[in-house]
Amino acid sequence: MLYSKKGKAIRNRFRIAPGDAFAYALPCGGTLLRGGPDTKGDRRSMDLWILKLQREATRIASRHRIPEFYVRFKAPMAVARKLFFTNSSVVYLRGMVRPILQDEMGHGLLHSTRVGLDAATLIDVELMSSPLSREEVERLMVLGLVAGLLHDICRNESNHAESGALEAARVLQSLPMTREETRCICQAIRNHEAFVAPVVSDRPWFQLVSDCLYDADKFRWGPDTFTHTLWHMMDHQKLSAHELAAKFPWGMTGIRRVMETFRTATGRQYGPEIIEIGMEIGKEVYRYLLQFIRDNSHDQ
Ligand SMILES: [Fe+2]
Ligand SMILES: [Fe+2]
Repeated sequence: MLYSKKGKAIRNRFRIAPGDAFAYALPCGGTLLRGGPDTKGDRRSMDLWILKLQREATRIASRHRIPEFYVRFKAPMAVARKLFFTNSSVVYLRGMVRPILQDEMGHGLLHSTRVGLDAATLIDVELMSSPLSREEVERLMVLGLVAGLLHDICRNESNHAESGALEAARVLQSLPMTREETRCICQAIRNHEAFVAPVVSDRPWFQLVSDCLYDADKFRWGPDTFTHTLWHMMDHQKLSAHELAAKFPWGMTGIRRVMETFRTATGRQYGPEIIEIGMEIGKEVYRYLLQFIRDNSHDQ
């Protein structure tokens, strides 16, 4: 539950009123709502003590350096952001997915937006010395943004990469995409899971979008894990602070493993640092969590 400064509970300010939009049922469970200016996602609330831990984790993260990727590639990032806010397909898609991409497991709209922006940035960086025209590069960046927004659309499914790819194909029918572009995006979504061998494509631009989506998604295993994802997962799974502390070392091991899996040259160069910074933050968060448990042991 969220609270105002005066301690009053703030109930869903973003609830969708009947008639604001029409529903589009997803086979993987959720409902996609289209149309209407008020189709904002239903914001989940968290327990206050989890919010407190998340706030402290964010404070810890703010003391750490910014990963080199985000310092060096500000220009491609600005292009990605411009496309995110101006490309008509991306703008339309953002409105479509907003109601279903909730942060239950930390894989909601914030996560998908960051993945899309980083995927588009990676595409631009990877193509810096290619003979493609600016228009062609930006079209591929749009595919990266779209893939990012859709990649976790079926996050609650057991095989969410495959289900997401199938669902994305359905969603993309309402966007001005060619069949090849749709196939490219779906292939990228199908390939985005960590520690699963990807399907290799003989088409370089399919491979590029796929690899950039993967790397952008795994960049989230850095600081985002501790400022965002962890707390939403914890809240969703109703974990206690003790249970989180017990799982923490195991989780850190998994994060370390992803360092070896980046697929683009840019990802291999800059991704491990993003993960390393995340792990530095994680170690401090873990110490704070243990202290928090000690301080609150009388309440447990
Ligand atoms: Fe995913
Ligand atoms: Fe993801």
